[in-house]
Amino acid sequence: MATPERDSLTGYHTTGHEWDGIKELNTPIPTWWVTVFLGSCLVALLYMWLYPSFATTTGIFKGRLGWTSHGQLAEEMAAGRAAQAEWRRLLTDTPLEQVEANADLRRFAIAGGRAAFNENCAPCHGVGAGGQIGQFPALVDDDWLWGGTLPDIHQTVRYGIRSGHEETRDSMMPAFGEMLTPAEIDAIADYVLALSDSGAEARRAALPGATLFQQNCAACHGLKGEGNREMGAPRLNDAIWLYGGTKEAIRHQIANPRMGVMPAFAGKLDAETLRMLALYVHSLGGGER
Ligand code: HEC
Ligand code: HEC
Repeated sequence: MATPERDSLTGYHTTGHEWDGIKELNTPIPTWWVTVFLGSCLVALLYMWLYPSFATTTGIFKGRLGWTSHGQLAEEMAAGRAAQAEWRRLLTDTPLEQVEANADLRRFAIAGGRAAFNENCAPCHGVGAGGQIGQFPALVDDDWLWGGTLPDIHQTVRYGIRSGHEETRDSMMPAFGEMLTPAEIDAIADYVLALSDSGAEARRAALPGATLFQQNCAACHGLKGEGNREMGAPRLNDAIWLYGGTKEAIRHQIANPRMGVMPAFAGKLDAETLRMLALYVHSLGGGER
């Protein structure tokens, strides 16, 4: 090959190839490009040396730093737990009623309470605590069987209702089907319906069921059907029904009462989670002071 000639315009050599008078310049790769390229190769090799990078016959090369994604996850989770432990400790040390004063603590508790609720309570009370008519009470309204203050709710969640726990909330509505005649039960059911009917106010006292109600029911449900939270006896004068507000449903409840059972969660969930749950339920709209 002849000595490559120099191109007079650019100062570069030509490759010696020539087509129809057009000569190919031998333009070298710019130095900056070569430097960056070699630099990248070096960085890549360094990475391969430091981190797990390639398979060997016996497993994988683990890298000089000993880093693994499992290890990183474990570290991050430990950091998360440590951060949570701080909040949990604060939650334990703060009286329930005072949690509200600390906006961050309240947010932490309610977020935790919502998660625990969806896991433990939603199967009965529904996601969002809307309840299920005829079975499980709604927890979003201000109609409470056992009370809607923070300590009330906290107690219900810890010990349950007719749960068998020794601290459980407990009460029994007698089965009047064995004590009263069907006609009497019918009369009382009419009276119970009239309790929440403002149009029936004037003639209520004259209803045949009035005396029977006072004799048999008022001890628990109150003279005017206002209910009694000591016994979890529902209000009967607010037209909000746990077991249904038709005459048939009421007759059925009088003759053969359903006794709702709510399990105790003390011992199943830790103390902080129980507090979070109380705060969450209390925040749903019906919470009382
Ligand atoms: C197996 C079904 C079931 C599960 C699970 C359950 N509950 Fe209940 N809950 C009930 C029933 C039934 C009642 C009503 C009992 C009664 O008739 O007095 C009730 C009542 C309540 C009350 C009292 C309402 C009032 O008006 O006073 C609260 C508060 C409550 N539940 C919260 C919870 C929370 C929080 C959880 C989850 C940790 C939970 N429940 C899990 C069935 C359940
Ligand atoms: C010893 C107390 C007690 C007596 C007496 C009693 N009840 Fe009850 N009653 C309760 C309790 C407790 C409940 C709630 C049961 C549950 O949560 O499962 C209830 C529930 C009811 C309900 C269902 C309310 C709803 O929202 O669905 C009706 C209706 C009712 N009682 C009517 C009567 C009538 C009528 C009498 C009298 C014949 C009577 N009760 C006597 C304690 C009593």
